[in-house]
Amino acid sequence: MIKPDAVKNGHIGAILNDIIAGGFKIVAMKYTRLSAEKAGEFYAIHKERPFFGELVDFMSSGPIVAAILEKDNAIEDFRKLIGNTDPAKADAGTIRNKYAKSIDANAIHGSDSDANAEIEGNFYFSAFERF
Ligand code: CMP
Repeated sequence: MIKPDAVKNGHIGAILNDIIAGGFKIVAMKYTRLSAEKAGEFYAIHKERPFFGELVDFMSSGPIVAAILEKDNAIEDFRKLIGNTDPAKADAGTIRNKYAKSIDANAIHGSDSDANAEIEGNFYFSAFERF
């Protein structure tokens, strides 16, 4: 998911370019916006964390790009491509290093396991929207 900061700052094209150059196939994609309720549902796993309120506010503050990606070893390779959650700690050349400013506005989200990728893919897309 390309987050509201990266969309607002004009980085959709550059980020998709990095994702494709990284060997990922786009299986589904949409430009949309989360309500606060839907953002809370997407990030329900974090609802006890102190940053949950800010996370929901930020993620519903503007449009996002949601996508399902495919690649061998996709979870691990995508996390390498996007870099550390905190852009200040993200390696040079990673998406968060290049396009993110803070741990909240960190440009992009990637699923952290195959099981969560399944849940998060189903959150945004029906079977008929995947190619
Ligand atoms: P993301 O990978 O989308 O998953 C949860 C998000 O919460 C994370 O990226 C950050 O943008 C945000 N967040 C804000 N504060 C923190 C924190 N202290 N630790 C982890 N994630 C945080």
